[in-house]
Amino acid sequence: MPDDKTPSVSRRFAGKGVFPYQMAFTLLIPLRRLLLSPAALVNRLDLAAGHHVLEIGPGPGYFSLEAAKRLPQGRLYLYDIQPEMLAHARRRLKKRGYTNVEYHRAGGARFPFADNTFDRIFLVTVLGEVANRDVYLQEIARTLKPGGVVSVTEMQGDPDKLEEEELDALFTAAGLEKGRRYRTFAGFTLNFSKNA
Ligand SMILES: C[S@@+](CC[C@H](N)C(=O)[O-])C[C@H]1O[C@@H](n2cnc3c(N)ncnc32)[C@H](O)[C@@H]1O
Repeated sequence: MPDDKTPSVSRRFAGKGVFPYQMAFTLLIPLRRLLLSPAALVNRLDLAAGHHVLEIGPGPGYFSLEAAKRLPQGRLYLYDIQPEMLAHARRRLKKRGYTNVEYHRAGGARFPFADNTFDRIFLVTVLGEVANRDVYLQEIARTLKPGGVVSVTEMQGDPDKLEEEELDALFTAAGLEKGRRYRTFAGFTLNFSKNA
């Protein structure tokens, strides 16, 4: 029986909801590069080689390969609510030989990471799917290192897209400060930082 962690494909076609893993292939189509390439997204994170980075909702890992590549001395943590998405991402990263990646299933309210763990946290077209958004914001603020950056990207056409004003309100309410902004016709990225 489907539960709240098992999104229905038909429900997704009808509108909002957790993106079904059965449609993961649509997140990997090469044309997507024209809207936002993995390299362009990862450039917005200003990574250092030794950073510890959390990607929330990586899906099949479209952006994760590029992030893992930029962290030769660091570590990438993938955190998704659907085990099938994590398995898909793992296959893709393993095939390319990346060993600096951990896979964690999201589920409970609290993230399974210690305070001040991450230099960077990023999410691409995820937050609109998260039911307990306030809790996620608190957890992001808790697990980010002082001086760390959280980066949230939203794309046009996503039925769960959140608007800039709503994101500003959510992140600043969690105690994070507005940082760099990137906007194109296809969507936007907002960065926020935690006070050092
Ligand atoms: C639209 S897909 C985007 C995947 C990837 N970020 C990309 O842009 O290719 C949204 C992803 O967020 C995940 N997701 C939804 N709710 C989540 C939650 N509460 N915690 C973690 N991941 C979640 C879904 O399982 C799915 O993999």
